Formats: sequence, structure tokens, C-alpha cells
Amino acid sequence: MLTKRLETVGKLVDQNDKIADIGTDHAYLPIMLVNNKTIKEAIASDIGEGPTQNARDNVKRYGLNEQIKVRLGPGVEPITPEDKVDTVIIAGMGGKLISDILQDGVNEGKQFPKLILEPNIGEPVIRRWLMNHDYKIVAEYIMAEDGHTYEIIKAVLTSEKQTLTDAELLLGPFLKEEKNEVFLTKWHNQLAYFKNLLLNLQKANVPDEQKISLIKDNILAIEEVLQSDTN
Ligand SMILES: C[S@@+](CC[C@H](N)C(=O)[O-])C[C@H]1O[C@@H](n2cnc3c(N)ncnc32)[C@H](O)[C@@H]1O
Repeated sequence: MLTKRLETVGKLVDQNDKIADIGTDHAYLPIMLVNNKTIKEAIASDIGEGPTQNARDNVKRYGLNEQIKVRLGPGVEPITPEDKVDTVIIAGMGGKLISDILQDGVNEGKQFPKLILEPNIGEPVIRRWLMNHDYKIVAEYIMAEDGHTYEIIKAVLTSEKQTLTDAELLLGPFLKEEKNEVFLTKWHNQLAYFKNLLLNLQKANVPDEQKISLIKDNILAIEEVLQSDTN
């Protein structure tokens, strides 16, 4: 059965888009999206031989060889302009790796109309990359599953420049307005974590002033958003 996390990623896919699922592993996501008739075709690619084989086996088991093409290779390298992909999905990796994959794509002259990204960690890195590469965030989800909190970000390529504030980069422009239960729990916990970290950094024999200043900025940004919730 598909995880709630991947189901939530799938909800952000537009009807009939051609998708490329990068780091597909078992190809669960493209299989679900074809089976529930959200999309008609997909490319499922992965850097690993094992995951690619898992994907091939599953696609064959569901009889979807025509609709889902499985490819082996790093990042977006297996995707060509002829594929005419509408939406690239990258889920279940760190934010740094996801932005490195996107950057490698840009360096190869590849930009995609829509991106759906689910970093396991490092969401601000992704938001900054998007802001600096002509993408505008158009939707965000936050959800919890098995004790983990996941954020999912959808962005579209645009000629409009989107400038995100530090608070928006950290907390998410849509998530910080919606402030659902999962969001509030995450950021109350993060606030306690940052406050504790600040105390420890300040106690050091040679305090790291740059890090202290960054943590202080984070604390202020989080407090501002959480306080506006209680007003
Ligand atoms: C944790 S799994 C996530 C699978 C699925 N996307 C999900 O969200 O459940 C990460 C997958 O990404 C693949 N991967 C890691 N680095 C990659 C890269 N640079 N390019 C393509 N795939 C990569 C791994 O081989 C692995 O199958």
C-alpha cells in the first residue's frame, strides 16, 4: 500500500501531466498515478541498479510497460527534451541532494515547467534554490506519518520573480499562513530545540558568533509566526 506521504505527493500532480519520478525506487508513485487515472504516462528513473530493477518488476506486474518507462541514471540525466515532461517529482531525499540534482539539470540546460519536491530534511535549501532559479512556490503540504513530519513543495517555472523572506524560506510561505496542527507541533518543538542549542553555543569557550546569529534569527522568525497564532 502506498504511504500517506506518497499519496500526498500524488495529490499535487495535475491531471494528464507527463511526470518524471526521479529516485523512484519501487515506482510506487507513478504506478498509483496511472492506476488512479491522474496521469497517462510517466518516466520512473533511479541511480541504482537495484531500485531500477524493483521499478521494472513492479511496472511489469501491473502491466504498465507502455505507460511507465523505467530508466537508469543519476538525477535528471535520463530525461531528454524529447520526453516533454511537464512535472518532475523528487521525493524521499535530502534538500541538498534534491537541489544538487536540479542544479545539475540546469547546468545541462534542463528546466522543467513544474516541480514537486518532498525533502526529508533541508526544506529551506530547496526553497532558496527555487527562488534563485525562477520557480514560484504555488502549493505546500505538511503532514506527519510514523513519527516523521514531511513537507511537500510544488513550484512552477515563471517569469515573475518570487522573493521569499527568511521566515518564508524557513517555515514555508503557504504553511506559515495555514498553520495546521502538524505545523504548530513541528515549530513548537523546533523552537525549543533552537533555544537549547543557543544556550549551548553561548556557553562555548569560543562562541561561534555566525552560528549564534543564525540561530537567533531562526528563533525570532519562528516566534513571530507562532505568536501571531495565539493573538
Ligand atoms: C529513500 S528512496 C525514495 C524513493 C521514493 N522516491 C519515495 O519517496 O519513497 C531514495 C531513492 O533515490 C535514489 N537516488 C539517490 N540519489 C539519486 C540520484 N542522484 N539520482 C537518482 N536517484 C537517486 C536511490 O537509489 C533511492 O532509490
